[in-house]
Amino acid sequence: MMLIQEAVDHCASYLEGKKIESSRLSAELIVGHVTSLSRTEVLSTPNRKLTNTEETNLDVAMKERGKHKPLPYIIGEVEFYSIPFSISSGVFIPRPETETLVDAALDIAKEISDAPKIYDLGTGCGNVIIALALNLDDGEFWASDISNNAVQTASLNVRRHDLQNYVEVKEGQLFSPMRKELATEFDIVVSNPPYIRSGDIPKLPPQIKDFEPHIALDGGRDGMSVIKSILDGAAPILKPGGYVLLEADPITMPSIRSEVQRRTCYEDFKVLPDASGKDRVAQFRTKAKKIGW
Ligand SMILES: C[S@@+](CC[C@H](N)C(=O)[O-])C[C@H]1O[C@@H](n2cnc3c(N)ncnc32)[C@H](O)[C@@H]1O
Repeated sequence: MMLIQEAVDHCASYLEGKKIESSRLSAELIVGHVTSLSRTEVLSTPNRKLTNTEETNLDVAMKERGKHKPLPYIIGEVEFYSIPFSISSGVFIPRPETETLVDAALDIAKEISDAPKIYDLGTGCGNVIIALALNLDDGEFWASDISNNAVQTASLNVRRHDLQNYVEVKEGQLFSPMRKELATEFDIVVSNPPYIRSGDIPKLPPQIKDFEPHIALDGGRDGMSVIKSILDGAAPILKPGGYVLLEADPITMPSIRSEVQRRTCYEDFKVLPDASGKDRVAQFRTKAKKIGW
């Protein structure tokens, strides 16, 4: 029977042989996952023996990672905005650059005197709307996604963070799940939509193109297809002066700017950088008067 320390060494050298980055950290997390121990417990109990089942599970998990399956899909966990989220295959894995979207929405929401009403389109595992709900004292939080897998996972995370009285998650295409609530006018629509050009998908690293759902990635020929639909659908459900915050690829920002400016219902377009200085979030708002849209 293997000891924890031996299991970590064995897994780390296997992953290193497969040229998997951060092989030791991955090994510690995988061993923690199969033994139901935290990483700290893995490091502090090197002589605890693995059971036969744990050894078998380790072998399976290690080989999956060796074939580039993303670590969050193997361990079922991911961290975003310093908050733990459950995740499973078929649901987009949150990325650090999306924290810029959360920061921008928080800055705006904190300036709103009444409880802000916020809608997250394409919520994935619910990371953005849950990060907002956990960081605001008050508010109404709505989220939707076209993927049933995503909606199930987001709902699980809402319960995990005890937000079921505050965050509503619905399934459907674009803004259609909000039809019943159209009477509710939102202060902010946030979205990290699929924005990769279809032609670029085959060039993505294997851990993305072979494992993550293409519906979460593929933004059509020019990467703008869902973004354009959001520009059309957001204004009618926003309050006058309400904000849209869209994460996108830095190279599509000029196209987003011209699409926003072409629609006369929006104003105050600006682009916000992410932590590495790349243009990451487009921010704009509906004009104060709805007349003439
Ligand atoms: C890039 S992922 C973002 C997930 C999560 N909000 C995040 O930021 O990590 C895009 C999400 O949009 C969803 N989606 C794609 N097309 C959609 C559509 N037409 N209507 C609603 N959701 C859509 C996908 O299922 C996916 O969960």
